[in-house]
Amino acid sequence: MIPYKTIIRLDKKSCTPLYIQLCNQLIQLIKCGVLPPSSRLPGTRWMSDTLGIHRKTVIAAYDELVTQGWTEASPARGTFVNSLLPIVEKRPIPGEKWGEDTLKIQQTSGFSFVHRKHLDSTDARFPEEGLIVFDDGVPDNRIAPIEEIARAYRNVARKSYNRKHLSYGSVYGNRELREALAAYLNDTRGLHTTPENILITRGSQMGIYLSARLLLGEGGIMVVGETNYRSANKVFTEAGGKLERIRVDECGIVTDDVEKICRSRKISGVYVTSHHHHPTTVTLSANRRMHLLELSKKYGFAIVEDDYDYDFHYSNAPILPLASSDTGGNVIYIGALCKIVAPAIRVGYMVAPQDFTDEASRLRRVIDRQGDPLLELTLAHMFRDGEIQRHSKKALKMYHERRNLFCSLLRKKLHCYFDFQTPEGGMAVWVRLRGNYSWDEIKEEALKNGLRIGGSCGDENDPVEPPYPGTRMGFASLNTDEIREAIGRLEKTMKSIGEKAL
Ligand SMILES: Cc1ncc(COP(=O)(O)O)c(C=O)c1O
Repeated sequence: MIPYKTIIRLDKKSCTPLYIQLCNQLIQLIKCGVLPPSSRLPGTRWMSDTLGIHRKTVIAAYDELVTQGWTEASPARGTFVNSLLPIVEKRPIPGEKWGEDTLKIQQTSGFSFVHRKHLDSTDARFPEEGLIVFDDGVPDNRIAPIEEIARAYRNVARKSYNRKHLSYGSVYGNRELREALAAYLNDTRGLHTTPENILITRGSQMGIYLSARLLLGEGGIMVVGETNYRSANKVFTEAGGKLERIRVDECGIVTDDVEKICRSRKISGVYVTSHHHHPTTVTLSANRRMHLLELSKKYGFAIVEDDYDYDFHYSNAPILPLASSDTGGNVIYIGALCKIVAPAIRVGYMVAPQDFTDEASRLRRVIDRQGDPLLELTLAHMFRDGEIQRHSKKALKMYHERRNLFCSLLRKKLHCYFDFQTPEGGMAVWVRLRGNYSWDEIKEEALKNGLRIGGSCGDENDPVEPPYPGTRMGFASLNTDEIREAIGRLEKTMKSIGEKAL
């Protein structure tokens, strides 16, 4: 006899009704072969006495089992496990740890699948209490206009005409947002685009991915800087492409290197973070921009322009993107609101010649039918009302102040350890080591002092060692007190490393 009294565990405080709990546990007994096909379940009276529950509860559970097809009721004979169920190998009767050993999720798959070794990032880590983080250069979520978003979202969701946005919509994204973005990009970046050229994506990352999948076949060549935004490298490799590295100096990627490559083989594209090269933060110079555009026309390749932080430029008016001077239809321009508003607002855009946007929309559809129409409409209204623009200005002012403070403290207190250029924009400083230290050692020691360097979004920098022994230190997400404290902790870290080396 199965020891129902010990193996069935009902929790009267649970929000799951008792009859469902009983039904589910009997199903588990059937699934693990303890109750084989055609076996008889105990009578309802016996079961209710044994388990100390009302008989009606047992009857409801048995009825549910019949409805779901696990059992069959035979008038006057009782309830039997469905005779058509397959016979399974009997596993031990669950004991004391009923939930743990019967319902445990297996952590190792019982099937084989492809391991993609090049996709080796870890998940984002939230800082423990008291820890200060120099991230990769992300916005300060604490100033995100979340109240404004919530208000606008509520308005959009409440309006009855917007019920249509609860249905399947355009794979290109909300029309009003594309119109607002076309106007915004034309106004702020000198683009000459139209809503038809815009595909709304879930952040810049999706734009990079779609471009990579369309540009690169097996072995297609994508030219990237050495060093480069690591997540983009992974996308290009994942899409079957081969990375061809070119130099990066104080004027950005060296376009002569692109030309050299083009003379000997066909390339699919050049990936460029023109505004502030990732990770070194330098701006691609005007003459290299013109050179790259000329080359793209001459050799027929795409320029994937990832303009992830265009809105944050502190010194002078930013140089307009390559996309603004593209006369050959060679630039795929990618950006997002994730850096202006907050990384969790997964709304970005890809601007490209219409045939490319159409193809990208078809590709996007197979993995993500559409974006989030209500959020997109919300953002469209916020653009219309100038709220995004106002927030962007406010953030720019704040980050400018933070950059100045961060760089002045770094120069004053840590100059003997680190070398860096004050970035003209963006949210991070590219910090290089002067001495014979290692970043691994510094990061480990800094943690002991309550400072984490990197590891905020799960991707470390492009792991190219000398001549690029640098790391990004984000300043935008820290307020001025936190910056002072963080620099103090870094100073302590470097002093203790220096003493150890003596
Ligand atoms: C250079 C660069 N491109 C793209 C992205 C991806 O941004 P998003 O959050 O818009 O997908 C990032 C994120 O940090 C980035 O640094």
